[in-house]
Amino acid sequence: MIDLRSDTVTRPSQAMRKAIAEAAVGDDVYHDDPTVNELERTVADLLGKEDAVFVATGTMSNQIALRVHTEPGDTVIVHAAAHIRRHELGGAAHNSGVTLEPIDGPYGAFTAEQLTEAIPEPHPALPSHLFDPVTLVCLENTHNDAGGTIWDIGEMQRVLDAASSLGLKKHLDGARLWNATAATGIAPDVYASGFDTVNVCFSKGLGAPVGSALAGSREDIARARRFKQIFGGGFRQAGLLAAGALYGLEHHFERLAQDHANAYQFAVAIADSRGVTVDLDSVQTNIVYFATPHAGALVDACHEAGVAMLALGPTTVRAVFHLDVSAGEARRAAEHVQRFASA
Ligand SMILES: Cc1ncc(COP(=O)(O)O)c(C=O)c1O
Repeated sequence: MIDLRSDTVTRPSQAMRKAIAEAAVGDDVYHDDPTVNELERTVADLLGKEDAVFVATGTMSNQIALRVHTEPGDTVIVHAAAHIRRHELGGAAHNSGVTLEPIDGPYGAFTAEQLTEAIPEPHPALPSHLFDPVTLVCLENTHNDAGGTIWDIGEMQRVLDAASSLGLKKHLDGARLWNATAATGIAPDVYASGFDTVNVCFSKGLGAPVGSALAGSREDIARARRFKQIFGGGFRQAGLLAAGALYGLEHHFERLAQDHANAYQFAVAIADSRGVTVDLDSVQTNIVYFATPHAGALVDACHEAGVAMLALGPTTVRAVFHLDVSAGEARRAAEHVQRFASA
């Protein structure tokens, strides 16, 4: 099966399994796990932050960040299609008691002006406590639901500047920040600067079996460790997992560009097919979204032929490229889509 459902479907290679098996471990709740400590130091350095905490998932990392930066009743600005809004199952309300205020915009981004307009102006005739207390803005880079799209660094800086002048905290959901770096050459710490906290994942393009990290100031990460424990995320000999993450950072970061090339080649190939529409401008990293009149039927036919993709709506299909998909397999997958879409 050529599995294009997600970049989370990768399985650890023999070399990664060896690194995992040989990892030095200790009790992470006591900060005794040398491999977790090494991973946290490595990630903090890569992102230019004082500290980082290793957690089980990207969702947990984002949820902890929301709790670190807000109080119940606060409002948080997110993109309308943000993972935090669409795929974390109301966790923001459940875990932190906050309201999410969406801003829409193309390719998963929005402007500084939109952010400023989203903050309610206290009306002089009304007490200010009647207006939403907006305390945090979250950006997502790359943006999953927009197709793995990358924030323009200049536009991002303008949004961050506006957020600072509005007194907001800033969190980056960088589950696939590594892909943004691989595509643009802009270092992770440059993307991360200006954010109070940054979530990164090891279980996606980097191919580790489990794990994410939240990086930020010493103070914010100390608070994050408390909420990690409260959310039931304190884990013990987690060095086994951290070893996979370290292996992925060391060995699979450089090769992400290959996934991007495969995704683009696939997108270009299917763009010529009858019954398929692809916005090639959205194919900036390893994710391809395309429209087709009968997404479910096309996905079923491709599955029969050995290509797994996700139908994410009646007319929307997603294909994601990762280290377990070769250039040849990307070509073969495109041939199947071409064949069944125009049948
Ligand atoms: C942008 C983004 N943020 C967060 C997550 C959550 O990561 P996890 O599946 O590890 O909870 C994902 C997962 O795909 C994602 O795409």
